[in-house]
Amino acid sequence: MRLPPIFVLRATVKKASRQPSKHMSGQSAFAIYKQLHDFKNGARANEIMAGVVHDLDDEQMADVAAHFSALTKGALDPKTISSGDPDVVRLVEYGNSARGVPSCASCHGAHAGGPIETPTLAGQRQEYLQAQLEAFANNGRCNDIFDRMRGIAAKLQPKEMEKLAEYYSAVRLFRPQD
Ligand code: HEC
Repeated sequence: MRLPPIFVLRATVKKASRQPSKHMSGQSAFAIYKQLHDFKNGARANEIMAGVVHDLDDEQMADVAAHFSALTKGALDPKTISSGDPDVVRLVEYGNSARGVPSCASCHGAHAGGPIETPTLAGQRQEYLQAQLEAFANNGRCNDIFDRMRGIAAKLQPKEMEKLAEYYSAVRLFRPQD
């Protein structure tokens, strides 16, 4: 397998970047591949990541995705599911039909029927998650197919984005060995 020196790439990204970045473990191969692909063709604009993926061909991007991922999204560890703000837990689990906001878990949950490229949110940094929601809401990030996340984020209040980011950063992925 022609695996690029991904650990070197990651170290470079970490050093070069002051932006909140994302963990790759717990993501499905589909989610990682799509983001690498989008960084490369510019659908998701990020100078640092564009530089990192510039020289990767399709096969290498698939190899990187396979290297870091499981085939499916990670499941949430029930021990860490927040019992915090009930409004936020309700948004995550049920959404708000009056406002046209679907439940986050319907796509982001481990066995949810959402699109296969849906990323795992559990345990990502709060600043990263909040920045992504804000970017979807103001069209700073437009790589979501069929505007799925842009449509949802546009209906969220800034305070809700903050709380949702806090919620997902606090839950952990289920690891049987723990
Ligand atoms: C209809 C399915 C669907 C629903 C419902 C949904 N999402 Fe998403 N979400 C996605 C998909 C698909 C992506 C990946 C978009 C892309 O980059 O291709 C995504 C991406 C994200 C990201 C960026 C993650 C990253 O790693 O960059 C965040 C944050 C997010 N969603 C939060 C939420 C929250 C909070 C809710 C509930 C209010 C929600 N989503 C509801 C499908 C959904």
